[in-house]
Amino acid sequence: MKKIVVGITGASGSIYSIRLIQELLEKKIYVHVICTENGKKVMKYETALDLEEWVNELKSKYNHIKLEDINDMFSGVASGSYKFDAMIILPCSMGTLAEISNGLSRNLLCRVADVALKESRRLIISPRETPLNAIHLENMLKLSKLGVTILPPMPGFYHKPKTLEDLVDFVVGKILDSLSIENKLFEKWND
Ligand SMILES: Cc1cc2nc3c(=O)[nH]c(=O)nc-3n(C[C@H](O)[C@H](O)[C@H](O)COP(=O)(O)O)c2cc1C
Repeated sequence: MKKIVVGITGASGSIYSIRLIQELLEKKIYVHVICTENGKKVMKYETALDLEEWVNELKSKYNHIKLEDINDMFSGVASGSYKFDAMIILPCSMGTLAEISNGLSRNLLCRVADVALKESRRLIISPRETPLNAIHLENMLKLSKLGVTILPPMPGFYHKPKTLEDLVDFVVGKILDSLSIENKLFEKWND
């Protein structure tokens, strides 16, 4: 079974990670969820979802999801010897982006990103902030040069979205495409 780590931070837009996690579970991919303390607060504020309660609900339907403790450096995913296929940080705050680009591993989310980098595993970062200052841009460039995919949650409009869900699905579909996971979340150009 494929294993993917989904990191969630306190940037705006956890609605994207909620949709991504649902899709990964449907596709029978094992999902490790790591959310920062601010990530949980912003998620509750924006979506009214309590992450722990939501994951517990999901567990009654799927047995391939684990909510990690952000402070647990003894977790399997903290070690390079634990094989996961990819990590996606969605949405990624500028604070977490700065920590990762400077090699800080002060919580489990940043540690797993550091593991992905040192083990040359797939790492996708969806940074969210606007406008961007030069520090943000330099941090993204630094990580891009290390092979990280910088995939900002920027929905296109050429698929003529009608609902908020259409916009969310566009971004999540782009992420699944980037992971080479088949999906029909948005109509591909000239498909
Ligand atoms: C409602 C809300 C929305 C926020 N949106 C963003 C954002 O889009 N991007 C960002 O970098 N920070 C955003 N922040 C600030 C981060 O939550 C803050 O910098 C936090 O320290 C990030 O910590 P974390 O990376 O550990 O989650 C937001 C804060 C709040 C309360």
